[in-house]
Amino acid sequence: MRFAVLISGHGSNLQSIIDACKRGTIKSELALVISDKPKAFGLERAQRARIPTKVFNPKDYTNRQSVDRDMIIHLTKEKIDFVVLAGYMRLLTPYFIKKYHRKILNVHPSLLPSFRGVQGIKDTFTYGSKVTGVTIHFVDEKMDHGPIIAQDSFKIYERDTLESLERRIHKLEHKIYSQAIAAFEQGRLKIKGRKVHVVDKPSKMPSSR
Ligand code: GRF
Repeated sequence: MRFAVLISGHGSNLQSIIDACKRGTIKSELALVISDKPKAFGLERAQRARIPTKVFNPKDYTNRQSVDRDMIIHLTKEKIDFVVLAGYMRLLTPYFIKKYHRKILNVHPSLLPSFRGVQGIKDTFTYGSKVTGVTIHFVDEKMDHGPIIAQDSFKIYERDTLESLERRIHKLEHKIYSQAIAAFEQGRLKIKGRKVHVVDKPSKMPSSR
């Protein structure tokens, strides 16, 4: 299968996915990296790894739907089977989500459903939580809401600062995202309502039911 990664910024998750492809943990081809920000550092990471890149800058469009429409045209042309969000800081429209139904994965830096939104780590830290973690989930029409594929957690120590917490979260993201992508491409994720069952025996295609 061929997949695209959507980014907006630094791209450390993208880098860990590129590395997982090189190692063979992920077998699908990372065929395209898309950014909404022309200066995202992640684009450089992609170019260094010789992965085609494309920018869809919302400033060039009048509304969200037309951005997503152009993205879908491009993804279809590039024969992209599934989409991985890695720090893509925009909400996809229902139009996009329907086109890739149950074929869009996201990483979120908190234990959902706590601390949705763009500041998951900071919000967890300032709230005074004693435990935090990372969530990998399918994307649906609501923000940070779709069925949960994987979660892992750790304790927040007294000595943690926002910076140390960010480092620990990113380390965990880089560990579990590639594993979840691998389970998805192997057809080992079975979705029933909100529940995602990870089965041992792979089927041919990722299931949407
Ligand atoms: C990650 O913490 C991810 O969970 C969130 O945005 C951040 C992106 O970081 N959605 P990077 O660009 O992958 O370094």
